[in-house]
Amino acid sequence: MKISTFLVLFSLMLSSKAMAISDLTPEYLRCEYLENPFIDEREPRLSWILASEERDQHQTAYRILVASKMELLEPGKADLWDSNKISGDQTTQVIYKGKALTSRQKCYWKVQSWDKKDQPGEWSEASTWEMGLLMSSDWKSKWIGKDFSSNTLPIPYKNKELLLPPSPILRNKINLTNKVSKARLYITSLGLYEYLINGKKVGQDFLAPGWTDYNKRVYYNVYDVTDRLDQGEHVLQAILSPGWYSGYIGYALLIGNPIVRAFYGDTPALRAQLEVTYSNGETATFSSNEEWKATSGGLVESDILHGETFDARKVPEDWSKTNFNDNNWDNAEIINAGKRNLELYPAQPVQVTEVIKPIEIHERENGKFIFNMGQNFAGLVKLKVKGKAGDKVVLRFGEMLHPDGRLMDENLRMARATDTYILKGDPNGEEWTPSFTYHGFQYVEVTGFPGKPTKENITGLVLGSNTPRVGHFETDHPMVNQLYKNIVWTQRANFVDIPTDCPQRDERMGWTGDAQTYAGTAAINMDVSAFFTKWIQDLNDAQWDYGAYPDYAPAPGVRSSDTYAPGWMEAGVINPYEQFRAYGDTRIIKKGWENMERFMAFHDKKSKGAFFYPEGSFADLSPKGGYGDWLSIGKKTPPDMLATMYYGYVAQLMSEMATAIGKSERAIHYQNLSKKIKSAFADHYMDKATGRLTTNASAYGDGKGYVDGQMGFSGNTQTAYANAIALDFLNEEQKKIAGEHLAELILENDGKLATGFLGAKQLLPALSATGHSDLAYQLLLNEEYPSWGFEIKNGATTIWERWDSYVKDDPEKMASLNNGMNSFSHYAFGSVFEWMFHNMAGIRSDEAGYKTFIIAPEIPKKAINYVAASHESIHGKITSSWKKENGKLIMDVSIPVNTQATIFIPAKNELDVTLDNKRLDQHKDIQLGHFYNGKQTVKLGSGTYHFVSSID
Ligand code: BGC
Repeated sequence: MKISTFLVLFSLMLSSKAMAISDLTPEYLRCEYLENPFIDEREPRLSWILASEERDQHQTAYRILVASKMELLEPGKADLWDSNKISGDQTTQVIYKGKALTSRQKCYWKVQSWDKKDQPGEWSEASTWEMGLLMSSDWKSKWIGKDFSSNTLPIPYKNKELLLPPSPILRNKINLTNKVSKARLYITSLGLYEYLINGKKVGQDFLAPGWTDYNKRVYYNVYDVTDRLDQGEHVLQAILSPGWYSGYIGYALLIGNPIVRAFYGDTPALRAQLEVTYSNGETATFSSNEEWKATSGGLVESDILHGETFDARKVPEDWSKTNFNDNNWDNAEIINAGKRNLELYPAQPVQVTEVIKPIEIHERENGKFIFNMGQNFAGLVKLKVKGKAGDKVVLRFGEMLHPDGRLMDENLRMARATDTYILKGDPNGEEWTPSFTYHGFQYVEVTGFPGKPTKENITGLVLGSNTPRVGHFETDHPMVNQLYKNIVWTQRANFVDIPTDCPQRDERMGWTGDAQTYAGTAAINMDVSAFFTKWIQDLNDAQWDYGAYPDYAPAPGVRSSDTYAPGWMEAGVINPYEQFRAYGDTRIIKKGWENMERFMAFHDKKSKGAFFYPEGSFADLSPKGGYGDWLSIGKKTPPDMLATMYYGYVAQLMSEMATAIGKSERAIHYQNLSKKIKSAFADHYMDKATGRLTTNASAYGDGKGYVDGQMGFSGNTQTAYANAIALDFLNEEQKKIAGEHLAELILENDGKLATGFLGAKQLLPALSATGHSDLAYQLLLNEEYPSWGFEIKNGATTIWERWDSYVKDDPEKMASLNNGMNSFSHYAFGSVFEWMFHNMAGIRSDEAGYKTFIIAPEIPKKAINYVAASHESIHGKITSSWKKENGKLIMDVSIPVNTQATIFIPAKNELDVTLDNKRLDQHKDIQLGHFYNGKQTVKLGSGTYHFVSSID
């Protein structure tokens, strides 16, 4: 830092300190959910959290300054925006209202808050954001590449043929005529890119620029490369890979879809411009264009599903050096990419989030070694090897081993998931990490390794969207702790640019049903605000023109019959709603409002204005009825009954969201609609005399064409009651009765669950909501099939797709498993964590974004004596923990500044609760609520609180 800048900053610090009277300080400044980001949103939203030592503290006003230079970030000087003092407690998503922002504009900002006594606190530290390229005319670069697809031979693979063209490598030498004071790389590609300067990769991102419907939008990234450039010559390099744009997607190959690859286009292309500002103020732009040279290099095969083959002998030696002669390379081809809508990538990129070491190596026959990484995850391995030129090391990946120790690869289906490295024979050894693929695995089978490998030769690189971890959960029950760990690992393995169903087989698509059931859990574990901002856009881009949301998004047409399905398509409403609930985001509602209205119109039309779906309404889908309660056990819940419930549920959510964005007339409309659906549902699907849910099962005939239709259909299922209760389909009386029926069904089923994707999420919440907390705990703690505990008993380190995906030590059962559809990393059943967080730790948002919330833990009679959870909400960190000790319950909670919580403290009676060692009713300064149902309520502002009560 220059001395003059330092002095200015120092004196400013002194002056702002002098003004501060309160200790209320804004921290963790974010713009569009990200810290110091590059953005292209012209009206960015600013958020902060507040710190203060004082209890019950909140903000009564704030002031934001935004300046184009750090030196101007002072009252009276801020040239972009001075909000002046604005009354209110808003600390999230305050919309920038300053001068119009222009391309490349860097903005410095800070904020000051006033406390409950209207005393100002200190200014926050400064934060920044920088605008990307806002006008299409800002893009001077051209799409370049090299098309190798025509001279690539198909490669036979498992009776089918793969077409895997080599990756083009691109190169250009530039000369920087002066010292560099600022440099930005604006870059995108059709397909995936890696961009290097003088042989070193720019940034740390993988699979950039992500998967979208490339015909609607292509994301670009921006990197600050100032530190990478000095005066003089440099080599700019790029490598391209087909990725989702022109590579293989999903199970297209498996099912014999007419198109199996190149869904969006067949030639990857790069568009990049390096913009340099010299210290004398002059600028220069170095664009991708026909001056670049192109050829093929070491990456002879590259595909997300199938893996990579890298022949190190084929890497042109020294091509990253300025004196390299590329005269015999071709000129890069200008790719006609048509007009593309370029937008700045709005989320955290995919990156290596952890590095893991193998725990053991098993030597197998024929020079094969199986490395056990000790954890199932998604990512890559870094290979370290020394050998002679031409030695070929083949890495295959699997999540499980067969009982005889073989790598299980059947469940990968047509994903070749194989990386091959051919050595150049460097006497000092070689290192290689694939660039444009990833695998879901715990085991790596290594063949062809020269000599005997050690644990140093393979390192696991965990890949995923780098969403910040914001949730923690622990208990004194090892199985439950392992379950929580497994849930988090499965989320990490599947939040890879989009929420995928699984990371290993030939699928890895953004299945909407999975994403909607898991969205609530996802947001407790990680800050997925930016991640879902991106995917909800994908979802809207993939909406069918007739209004339904698709089975998966992006939806390139992997199978023509994959259209829409009840419980899946509702993601189009549920995911924006979850985003609103978790972060108070109303912009996402406004942005997608027209889409959601069109979806509701689709429902109205499809249900023929009857407000419910009678049996057989979705017989036109394939499979008939859609996916129903996918992977449930026993009799199937009628898909039309579920469709009716989802229709009513989303009508309810639409009403709430309409209120949130000030559309009161639509709020009433949807409120009425949901009421009508609920009553039509009860008329058709409920035996009013007994409160039993029923269906006309004969309408499904022999069930042929329906998922597991041969099992028969019944309205009287766990899933039916669980959904009716949890989706608020019943009045209080009906709910109570439904709870009894649900409990009865579980007991009849030997105390076990029988639910699939749509039922499992609602099951425990429905039990708790109807006074059956004990049964909910019983299901959670069960270790017999089918249960979460069964997976853990069988060695799971992630959540399985099926309740019986793997049965340790039972070869017969293993042999009968459907290995074709058997993922060991499928987050859908992990949705049980929502109940664990809401009911065990008791934390539940009330006003959106946890502005107000409740803490109401359900204390089980046995098995668990301690639970502790925390969540860094958009308003700050919430914690809740309890433990049982000698008939006492000790509860510790913390409530962020500027929020309020209602705490429900289990106790024998109202006089039996102490707060910080003094009887609760003797605290004059707190709002004591009533004692009801064995719980004392108290409403509290920010701070940490320690309660002790007596319990049975
Ligand atoms: C996926 C699921 C998905 C389902 C549709 C499967 O192949 O892996 O998770 O939701 O298809 O039922």
